[in-house]
Amino acid sequence: MSKVKTSFFCQSCGTQYAKWQGQCNACKEWNTIAEEIIQKQEKVAWKSEPSPKNTAPKPLKINEIDSTQEIRMDTTDAELNRVLGGGIVPGSLTLLGGEPGIGKSTLLLQISLKLPYKTLYVSGEESQKQIKMRAERITPTSDNCYILTETKTQNIFKQIEAIEPEIVIIDSIQTLHTDYIESTAGSISQIRETTAELIKFAKETNIPVILIGHITKDGNIAGPKILEHMVDTVLQFEGDRNHVYRILRSLKNRFGSTAEIGIYEMLGSGLREVSNPSEILISHKDEELSGTAIASTLEGMRPLMIEIQSLVSTAVYGTPQRSTTGYNAKRLNMILAVLEKRAGFRLGAKDVFLNVTGGISVDDPAIDLAVVAAILSSNEDIPVNKDFCFAGEVGLSGEIRPVNRVDQRIQEAEKLGFSTIFVSKYNKIALKNTGIKIELVAKIEDVATMLFG
Ligand code: TYD
Ligand code: MG
Repeated sequence: MSKVKTSFFCQSCGTQYAKWQGQCNACKEWNTIAEEIIQKQEKVAWKSEPSPKNTAPKPLKINEIDSTQEIRMDTTDAELNRVLGGGIVPGSLTLLGGEPGIGKSTLLLQISLKLPYKTLYVSGEESQKQIKMRAERITPTSDNCYILTETKTQNIFKQIEAIEPEIVIIDSIQTLHTDYIESTAGSISQIRETTAELIKFAKETNIPVILIGHITKDGNIAGPKILEHMVDTVLQFEGDRNHVYRILRSLKNRFGSTAEIGIYEMLGSGLREVSNPSEILISHKDEELSGTAIASTLEGMRPLMIEIQSLVSTAVYGTPQRSTTGYNAKRLNMILAVLEKRAGFRLGAKDVFLNVTGGISVDDPAIDLAVVAAILSSNEDIPVNKDFCFAGEVGLSGEIRPVNRVDQRIQEAEKLGFSTIFVSKYNKIALKNTGIKIELVAKIEDVATMLFG
């Protein structure tokens, strides 16, 4: 009988050690190293005999390689297609990460039901009945979607051979385990091994696999970082659980840009694709309220108009409070300091609250100008004309700095019926004869005078 082989793995970053130690040398975390049983056996997870395709590859001259055969599988979900760069690439491995309860299972089940391909949805988390109940909430039903409750990869591969699906979805990688490794499901060595088996399967059969992965509280995909290196595409599903909007972002994509995002709205009947995000992120109200201003931002390549809300009031307690949602708190402090020093607004003793509506988080510096407008509007208690919008970054000396893709932002603002857009004087604008008035500003004082006299 062979001796049981064990090894030590850091549960945080996946580094392997020969013996136990208190601190991981790689990620410097304490008490994360645990012993896991690894039993080296001949790996025969996916098909025992090597497939004929597996003969040693020969080098080809780059211009002899046929690139026309890049086919994408249309998911029929415009948002997902865009984020993936045009659809699923056959034989690729995609990892979808996100916090618990954000809607990962809902998204992939809904897509499985819509896919024009034979799909196998493997769940290690919910029973077939529970999945059926969920599917009933999401209206379209499908003849092409198979549900399997299984966690052992060997059994999953057996079912795959029987059903012959065109796409495989696994919910979630942390529940899978393989016979060739002894440690428990969700441990580093299991995650690494089961992912490797799935990659081998995907590459040999050209069947794409989508994996769901959980996220730890510090926002990393649970399991070794190596998981992210192994797969072709890493998508993240994010949003505020108390709001209805969800953003699908690509963090890594071997087959496309990582700049694109997809937006969904969580409804009682599943997720709805939001194809014109600007319209939903602006609350259309008839009366003008002080403290709000509309910013033109870019998420990926898409222009997006969002509403910034601010409340400035005299501090009740000694130390004024500053609180933000969806905007960097340090950046807010910087803007308040600039307003105080360069434009003479006394905000030092005031509470300032700032919200980006819709529960989304923005890091485009171009929203600075709208932040300034919202804060001044609340401070003066004078509303900003609701047909105005803003796109500019604020510099430390109070100058309004140019933003990228200004033409696209102007076009979006015009399309949505804004009368005026405020942009930096230093922006080079190629557009001619626009139906929207372009107000060029150089300093925050100019904006303050133009808006509030
Ligand atoms: P779920 O997909 O289970 O999240 P995850 O797999 O990321 O953990 O999503 C669960 C949440 O979504 C739950 O709070 C209920 C909500 N939900 C809806 O609002 N509408 C729906 O149609 C469905 C199926 C779920
Ligand atoms: Mg789930």
